Amino acid sequence: MDAKHPVEIDEFTGVATTGHEWDGIKELNNPLPRWWLWTFYASIAFATVYVVLYPAIPLVRGATPGLLGWHSREAVSQDLAALDATRGGEMEKLAATPLAAIESDPKLLSFARDAGRAAFADDCAPCHGAGGQGSIGYPNLNANRWLWGGKVDQIYATIEHGARSGDPKGHQGLMPAFGRDGILDDAKISHVADYVRSLAGFPAAKGADVADGLKVFQANCVVCHGADGKGNVQVGSANLTTKVWLYGPTKEDIVKGVWGGHGGVMPYWSGRLSEPTIRALAVYVHTLGGGQ
Ligand code: HEC
Ligand code: HEC
Repeated sequence: MDAKHPVEIDEFTGVATTGHEWDGIKELNNPLPRWWLWTFYASIAFATVYVVLYPAIPLVRGATPGLLGWHSREAVSQDLAALDATRGGEMEKLAATPLAAIESDPKLLSFARDAGRAAFADDCAPCHGAGGQGSIGYPNLNANRWLWGGKVDQIYATIEHGARSGDPKGHQGLMPAFGRDGILDDAKISHVADYVRSLAGFPAAKGADVADGLKVFQANCVVCHGADGKGNVQVGSANLTTKVWLYGPTKEDIVKGVWGGHGGVMPYWSGRLSEPTIRALAVYVHTLGGGQ
């Protein structure tokens, strides 16, 4: 302010005016707060430095690169490499630790179960169900009833080499087709089916000949299923004394199987999945609830 424009104080607010006036309306001199101004200047400075250092101004293809050469895609691949490095350590440990010891190391167990769960969802769930609950012809992996054994190294061997999978190290052997191959007639098959149902605790149906069924069973079935009908993991013959069935518990289901035979195919996974993944799967399946 100078002598030509003396400072004028607005009479209502007591604030100095800037001396500008339009049609009798005067402008009060209320400058912006200092802190606000400095924040504003600081953000301008920051933005300038940022534009120089980092990719910023969009061009037709991509953007100005910035002096630091930083790239979002590179940042992602660095993060992924870091993740691989941490997981790589665990995966190596998984490959090097005996299966049983994995389960007694809580950290490694939890890592194995997570890796196993993920691989199961990708590779096994289509046949065994999302939770390993199985369906007709595809075994329930939660139940403590195993064709090929429920110890962790038995489960591992089944996953590694499969059953009737074409892998010579895999499980072989079939349930013979007693009817189709003319070994038993329909009456004998009906009786042995009655006997098999009695093994699992089902009450005998009307007209069932369990006594003759027992004779047929002893002559034809104990070789594989055992005298007590509890099966044999060497030949993958089912335990017939439980309430869990691979092909169904009704008399028709059993007659059909004894007539036509069985031989489910479980693919082999060695060479298709990495060794640590197969081990993670074995641990995952073993700890689902039915493991021995
Ligand atoms: C194409 C379908 C299919 C896929 C995929 C499959 N399985 Fe199987 N699996 C089977 C069948 C069928 C059997 C039963 C074989 C038999 O009847 O002897 C079986 C049996 C098993 C058994 C033995 C069960 C027992 O009672 O002893 C285990 C363990 C198993 N599978 C785990 C897996 C895992 C883990 C995967 C994923 C890597 C997998 N399976 C993928 C079809 C499949
Ligand atoms: C050479 C060995 C062998 C003989 C002998 C044999 N079985 Fe089997 N049986 C098997 C095998 C192996 C399986 C499992 C097949 C599979 O996993 O697909 C099986 C499965 C079954 C099943 C299906 C169980 C389920 O969970 O659904 C029944 C029932 C059965 N056998 C009854 C009999 C009867 C009855 C006889 C005698 C008449 C007999 N088996 C003789 C090997 C045999």
